[in-house]
Amino acid sequence: MSRIALVTGGSRGIGAAVSKALMADGYRVAATYSSNDQKAAAFTEETGIKTYKWDVSDYDACISGISKVESDLGFIDVLVNNAGITRDAPFHKMTRDQWTDVMRTNLDGVFNMTHPIWPGMRDRKFGRIINISSINGQKGQFAQANYSAAKAGDIGFTKALAQEGARVGITVNVVCPGYIATEMVMAVPEKVRDSIVAQIPVGRLGDANEIARCVVFLASDEASFITGTTLTANGGQYMV
Ligand code: CAA
Repeated sequence: MSRIALVTGGSRGIGAAVSKALMADGYRVAATYSSNDQKAAAFTEETGIKTYKWDVSDYDACISGISKVESDLGFIDVLVNNAGITRDAPFHKMTRDQWTDVMRTNLDGVFNMTHPIWPGMRDRKFGRIINISSINGQKGQFAQANYSAAKAGDIGFTKALAQEGARVGITVNVVCPGYIATEMVMAVPEKVRDSIVAQIPVGRLGDANEIARCVVFLASDEASFITGTTLTANGGQYMV
């Protein structure tokens, strides 16, 4: 029987690459998205992967969305918490909304998605939780006090939950991508982006598929002894 994987923010950017790579590896995949109906429909058309619209920052929406996915596909074996947003601003200009929006999606969203799925994984004695954090949760980033705080929180969440999952067959790991050529990074002003690329020893932005391969590995049976780890893939920009 194929395992079932759910990828949040799974129809665009890194999430889309993860959804496709899991499908290619034999999983039955569902992808969530929050707003762009057109892109989600195009993604389903291209891949055959069903998309579900809800906002991961809304706990009740997560509960009903997850139950719809489970009634369509079956119990979720692999959860990839990928959905994330940026609201960059130097701190002296950062509004309370910019702080709250990022915390609600990038940190609360991980709680909201994992909490309803966790009891079933415990009962079935198998699960894979893979959280997508960021290099900027490890090193901090100018104009990202909100994003860096949330992404660092995702790393702490991973390490705590890994200790609880270990005895019941659930691994919890976090991937920290560096700067990957997605819409999010391409939205950074070109001059700033060029200066970022200059700090990457391999001399280029990453490719979303390079992150997807990390996720597929962590989801596999071969990775069952790996839990609580932070898998860093950033072209050598920041070494931890
Ligand atoms: N380090 C130090 N100083 C910096 C800086 C940096 N990295 N970036 C900008 N500054 C300085 C500028 O030189 C400028 O200084 P002056 O006032 O002396 O000229 C000041 O800080 C910025 O002032 P601005 O008025 O231009 O700032 P702004 O309100 O217009 O904001 C910005 C601009 C939002 C900071 C913009 O530069 C930006 O988007 N920067 C990129 C931030 C970034 O890297 N975000 C990552 C997005 S990708 C992602 O998050 C994915 C992932 O996980 C990796």
